Amino acid sequence: MVRETRVTPDDLILPLFVVPGTGVENPVASMPGVAQMSADKIVEAARRAHGAGLPAVILFGIPEQKDAGGSDAYQPDGVVQRAVGALKTALPDLAVITDVCLCEYTDHGHCGVLDGEKIVNDATLELLAREAVSHAEAGADIVAPSDMMDGRIAAVRHALDEAGFSELPVMSYAAKYCSGFYGPFRDAAGSAPSFGDRSTYQMDPANTDEALREVELDLAEGADIVMVKPAMPYLDILRRVKDRFGVPTAAYQVSGEYAMIKAACERGWLDQKRVVHESLTSIKRAGADMIITYFAADVVKEL
Ligand code: PBG
Repeated sequence: MVRETRVTPDDLILPLFVVPGTGVENPVASMPGVAQMSADKIVEAARRAHGAGLPAVILFGIPEQKDAGGSDAYQPDGVVQRAVGALKTALPDLAVITDVCLCEYTDHGHCGVLDGEKIVNDATLELLAREAVSHAEAGADIVAPSDMMDGRIAAVRHALDEAGFSELPVMSYAAKYCSGFYGPFRDAAGSAPSFGDRSTYQMDPANTDEALREVELDLAEGADIVMVKPAMPYLDILRRVKDRFGVPTAAYQVSGEYAMIKAACERGWLDQKRVVHESLTSIKRAGADMIITYFAADVVKEL
């Protein structure tokens, strides 16, 4: 009766890694319990979780071929586009969110196009906008740009409006830090940068006022939902963002947060169910309205 915070299945979003083919299920070594899956396997996994009460998934595509411009990202028959179609046909009530970025599709692993070793902001915007529109055409319910280029929310919003998707929501990875906790994801998506790091476009972990400026800009450009990422090391940022703007706010409990909990639980050092629920409660308590977590399928069942 006096509990202030309650995590419910409605809060949770499950990330899924899509690969080409059928019947494919490749376990991700650094993320026990997570696998890259072909679209048919994604539908099966989503059906089980949705049946238990999961409202939404977010898709990441790993294409057969990567190239300098990340061209599979915006093909009508790209790996994500086909998975979106399969999911929306099989499970029309499941919300399908797509991650909009180039790093899973580029052979150099950066989130934008290159000029030598420089990531070119404005040339990247056009490709991200094409990618978002192609996800919308495939049937995505929400698009989620995660690249951290400047001006990308305006570019994506404008392109969606022009293409007739003026009501499609944009979930912006607004305060996305340049974090070591993304390590296992880069295994899962094969997207580790081939040189340098992402510190010219992702945020310095030391900054908090800057997070508010990033969120403010994205809202001005048309974001409907803003995200703070990672989650647990950045609970103070979540609280500031929620207090300042009061808009729908998402938090991403990232691959490294998942891997830490899993590794300790496998050794018997932590009690998985207990610490997973505690971690999600802390993220919600800090201000998140929704949480992207690799534990989502387990948690909806436990709840
Ligand atoms: C793509 C993207 C990343 C994650 C989500 N979208 C990787 C990165 O920025 O390096 C990380 C998710 C996770 O670690 O679980 N830009």
